[in-house]
Amino acid sequence: MWFMRQAGRSLPEYRRVRADVPMLEACARPDMIVEITMQPVRRHGVDAAIYFSDIVVPLKAIGVDLDIKPGVGPVVADPIRDAEGVKRLRDLEPDDVHYVTEAVGELVGELGDTPLIGFAGAPFTLASYLIEGGPSKNHERTKALMYGEPELWDELMRRLAAITLEFLRVQIAAGASAVQLFDSWAGALSAEDYRASVLPHSAWIFERLQDADVPRIHFGVGTGELLSLLSEAGADVVGVDWRVPLDKAAQRVQPGTALQGNLDPATLFAPWDVVADRTRDVLSRGAAAEGHVFNLGHGVLPTTDPDVLTRLTHLVHEETER
Ligand code: CP3
Repeated sequence: MWFMRQAGRSLPEYRRVRADVPMLEACARPDMIVEITMQPVRRHGVDAAIYFSDIVVPLKAIGVDLDIKPGVGPVVADPIRDAEGVKRLRDLEPDDVHYVTEAVGELVGELGDTPLIGFAGAPFTLASYLIEGGPSKNHERTKALMYGEPELWDELMRRLAAITLEFLRVQIAAGASAVQLFDSWAGALSAEDYRASVLPHSAWIFERLQDADVPRIHFGVGTGELLSLLSEAGADVVGVDWRVPLDKAAQRVQPGTALQGNLDPATLFAPWDVVADRTRDVLSRGAAAEGHVFNLGHGVLPTTDPDVLTRLTHLVHEETER
């Protein structure tokens, strides 16, 4: 078990170390990366660490002018909407993210037997930030490009897939023992559009990671109708948000595929008895899957009481020791 966004604003020790350091600067400093990645492992005793970074870090590393604005998210100065823009996206070289290699190496030493999960943004979710210029509710410009200029769309997705693959390979080469591909906004797409315009690019990444021999997790939000396709893309583990019970989700993925999830992060604001009951329900439904990694259905909300996360970690450990 681990929590998406287990590092970050729910922890006072995180807020302290980040007080005077902008997000993207923190993501390029091995000392900060190591400290922030370790914080939730020390505090909660979760079974895995997730590398502290952001999905836009490799884009910044190849020269895209972007920033992460507190309370907003990634903002791109010059959004990509034509062939000229797509051409500006060059390949990622390991040296562009030398701090990742350094930080992962140090973390693996410090973590000992606790696995480190590496991650990257999937091409569709990255494309949405690049095309819209920031967080988007409807992804209208993204879909306009996908529907209106399919060849340019494919070229953009090919370039993003290559960047994502390289970013994951750097983390694996430095010692990450699992990887998660975040396609957080894939749920905005119909199954037909996902299959035609997105799946081939995410599948290309998973295929090329096969010989790395690390478990590959594929996660999206609002993807109930897409779970079989997320699985078809080649993941070993499919992440499920809280909208689909895990026993149902288990019927939608390929045989042999494990599930990850899926307690609603908002549940953690309810009385403890509710949290405990719902956690036991997630665990019992998860038993229907080929394997189950307990997690929330999406990231820890910033105002979550960290003591509830610790208590939840203990509960899951107690319930699964039997
Ligand atoms: O899970 C972890 O603990 C690892 C760290 C992590 C961050 N971002 C740190 C972060 C991970 C895995 C991500 C991935 C990420 N970033 C995703 C995919 C996961 C998801 O949530 O669906 C997405 C869509 C982003 C883009 C992004 N970056 C958003 C939407 C935001 C939030 C903006 C805000 O301030 O509300 C960020 C910023 C961000 N990424 C923060 C952290 C800790 C907050 C920045 C801060 O602390 O000031």
